[in-house]
Amino acid sequence: MAGSSIGKIFTVTTWGESHGPALGAVVEGCPAGLPLSPEDFTPFMERRRPNGGRFSTKRVEADLVEILSGVYEGVTTGAPILLLIRSTDQHSSDYDETARLYRPGHADYTFDAKYGIRDPRGGGRSSARETAARVAAGAIAAKILRALGISFDTQVAAIGGISASDPEKQAACVDAARKEGDSVGSEVICRISGVPAGIGDPVFDKLDARLAQAVFSIGAVKALDIGAGREASKMRGSDHNDPLRMADGIVTKTSNHAGGILGGISDGSPILLHVYFKPTPSISKPQETVTKDGENIDLSIRGRHDPVIAPRAAVVVEAMCAVTLLDAMLVNMSAKMTSVIDFYK
Ligand SMILES: Cc1cc2nc3c(=O)[nH]c(=O)nc-3n(C[C@H](O)[C@H](O)[C@H](O)COP(=O)(O)O)c2cc1C
Repeated sequence: MAGSSIGKIFTVTTWGESHGPALGAVVEGCPAGLPLSPEDFTPFMERRRPNGGRFSTKRVEADLVEILSGVYEGVTTGAPILLLIRSTDQHSSDYDETARLYRPGHADYTFDAKYGIRDPRGGGRSSARETAARVAAGAIAAKILRALGISFDTQVAAIGGISASDPEKQAACVDAARKEGDSVGSEVICRISGVPAGIGDPVFDKLDARLAQAVFSIGAVKALDIGAGREASKMRGSDHNDPLRMADGIVTKTSNHAGGILGGISDGSPILLHVYFKPTPSISKPQETVTKDGENIDLSIRGRHDPVIAPRAAVVVEAMCAVTLLDAMLVNMSAKMTSVIDFYK
């Protein structure tokens, strides 16, 4: 299966299926000398882990990250880091029916069309369980970025179109959908602060282009705004352009419609992303679909599913942004002759 790796210097490859015995990531290009222990992953994994509550699936995994290579006496050695997350709470029989049909809105049909074979248990490789591996890799990237003064503020911005300022309405919206065997759409906002100006490479590796690829690689993402995003298409240049001013000898902007990126290169302002998720495709409400044998049927999906995606996906967005930004920063180290000379002299 092509396409399971991302990055140029700090690279991440994920492996494993939803209902296999384990899944994980191989992280290459992590600088030697980074203190790293299983505890570093806990706060990240906890944010993605289903808690059995009203916003998440009833499948509850421990999501403990084991480091199998690349760390000696608690410090990275520069060797590939293999991260392993065991799965223990699988109910594969929930998917006996899925093997012979295609769930509307999920990847069953397209996986069969492409490969002619698929692991139907929990969606196999297309399952959101794969994002546990991304979050583990993202925890390493975020730790390095933290040492460089870069921080993330990632939140659920809306559920079912209701903003985060009204959590009771959001909860009622999810409860109502759940009661009807349905699901709702959602939105995540991610703000990255402390990114220096100059990160990202014209032409094809623009920072916004790379972030978009990373974010769109997350299941159920249907749209992304950077800065003013789609609103920019309704604005005038005089409103949208961020005025430039000098402050303490540094070029700054007095607004941030650009979302921190100009010409594909970071401009020193916070990077702002809005990520939009579709409603969870697996729902128990009856839907029309077809079987592998070409029969039209009505389907009511069993199994344990998230009724809304953003609450568990926010940290996945953060992880993918961290991996992408760190990689772009490592690439950037060879952008100027002065940087190369400073390094080697
Ligand atoms: C954190 C997270 C949790 C998800 N939970 C579920 C789920 O419980 N059930 C489901 O059918 N899809 C879930 N999805 C969405 C599917 O993974 C996704 O819709 C599917 O792979 C098809 O890809 P596409 O929607 O990008 O076309 C989840 C996605 C994410 C990021």
